Amino acid sequence: MEVIILESAQAASELAARLVARRVRELPECTLGLATGGTPKALYAELIRMHHDEGLDFKRVTTFNLDEYLGIPGDHPGSYRREMQKGLFDHLNIPSDRTHLLDGSTHDPIAECAAFENRIQRAGGIDLQLLGIGGDGHIGFNEPTSSLASRTRIKTLTRETRMSHAGHFGGEANVPPHVLTMGIGTILEAEEQVLLAFGESKADAIAATVEGPVTAYVPASCLQMHKNVRIFLDEGAASKLKRARYYRETFAGKPDWQRV
Ligand code: PGA
Repeated sequence: MEVIILESAQAASELAARLVARRVRELPECTLGLATGGTPKALYAELIRMHHDEGLDFKRVTTFNLDEYLGIPGDHPGSYRREMQKGLFDHLNIPSDRTHLLDGSTHDPIAECAAFENRIQRAGGIDLQLLGIGGDGHIGFNEPTSSLASRTRIKTLTRETRMSHAGHFGGEANVPPHVLTMGIGTILEAEEQVLLAFGESKADAIAATVEGPVTAYVPASCLQMHKNVRIFLDEGAASKLKRARYYRETFAGKPDWQRV
């Protein structure tokens, strides 16, 4: 795992965006795994800027999103389809039939999850997966105690997660209790993992992810088992890491050929 601590969320997002852009330039037909929520917004803004200012071309890119609320249509104000459409897809040139999100309005969630897994396989797997992290250590919507071998499936949100996502739904009581999410086993199959976490509210989850044991109780700790992981943090999210100094020294001393 490479832990990269920068002075601000903006600086960390810009560096992570360069990693994504490098992947898109090197492999124009790459498959990206995307995340929603507040965390990747600045990274997406930077990708949009690079598309407009530097001609970063997404026309052959395919995307898969981690998760979606179950029981709401894609045009619902809280849906992740809508969030992705407005926040990213409307501003890039990815063909719409290559942007894949789980369908939260499905009447057959099990078939929907199986079809999603098949689509990922048919696309050749995910080359680079972007991840946020919940305060409880979830990735995607894999809440604590999710099987580390899990595949795309239905999950029930914790109260903590419903509270933190209440904004788009006009209160916690309206947040759908169930979601569809890529499983941890699904996520781990991506070739490269890029996790972003900003702010002190993520500090405990990051400390447990990076320096705690691998445990289903902290789903993001599964990343310790992956061979290609970068974790981009601001000072707040890094504030509970015991070995922060070592991670900073490592990053500062990287040879040029290893830099993003
Ligand atoms: P956030 O959500 O980016 O809005 O903090 C992350 C998550 O819950 O996975």
